[in-house]
Amino acid sequence: MRTIHNPRELQEFAFSVRRSGTTIGLVPTMGALHEGHLSLIRRARQSDEVVIVSIFVNPTQFGPNEDLDRYPRMLERDLDACRECGVDVVFVPSAGDLYPEGFQTYVEVGPLASRLCGASRPGHFRGVATICLKLFNLCQPTRAYFGLKDYQQYRVVERMARDFDLPLEIVPMPIVREPDGLAMSSRNSYLSPEERTAATVLFRSLEDAAKACEAGERDPQTLAARVRRGIEAEPLARVDYVEAVDPLTLEPAGSLPALIAVAVFIGNTRLIDNRLLEAPDSSK
Ligand code: PAF
Repeated sequence: MRTIHNPRELQEFAFSVRRSGTTIGLVPTMGALHEGHLSLIRRARQSDEVVIVSIFVNPTQFGPNEDLDRYPRMLERDLDACRECGVDVVFVPSAGDLYPEGFQTYVEVGPLASRLCGASRPGHFRGVATICLKLFNLCQPTRAYFGLKDYQQYRVVERMARDFDLPLEIVPMPIVREPDGLAMSSRNSYLSPEERTAATVLFRSLEDAAKACEAGERDPQTLAARVRRGIEAEPLARVDYVEAVDPLTLEPAGSLPALIAVAVFIGNTRLIDNRLLEAPDSSK
């Protein structure tokens, strides 16, 4: 496994791989790798001949009062995990390499980025789209893999790829959960033992809505209200948003299928999760 820090060296490598007709799978990450990331890497390993993992805590997607400085950084552990998964190249650029003096051009994201996390974290998706575009240009992937916990991120990046005619496939991958249902996230490490227990309220409330939907409740807004009530019953939880949205436009959903998306502070830690609710197929 090679570790490359220099963007030009990485791009030269990627160009030569692609020139030889070989496919590249990219797993973009901010490090602190967990089973969710590893599931993306394993999938890339299955589908692509060369697997690149990028590890870069991207400053432009963090707001001024967010956790950029304390975001977990554990490079040696991450490199071991990548080696075990058979990664070919780990790209570890510095902020100065990717945003050198004079950098001033950003991707202007559209309405998909303005709701949900975009409303709570202004500028977040502009930073995400910009770094993803840069990583795509540097790594020249045939496919790039994104976890569906960050559903809105997946939709924004997939839209950008289509709008800019980027020659790659954006591959969405299922949420990976802890045994008690908590969606895996690098930010789970911020939780105290009490908060960690409380954090399962996101999954439990989404499950409850899925059961209500199976039992016949089909109004997405009623289902979202149910999720909100469930989360509000947990004393350590503070709702940022609970919304039922159309899975494609992310506009409020009037009917199923709907994505119930939640962002919740457990103590000071902001967690997100979601669940797609579909009306059971009556033809079955
Ligand atoms: O999901 C993440 O870890 C980040 O938002 C990404 C896609 C690596 C861009 O910095």
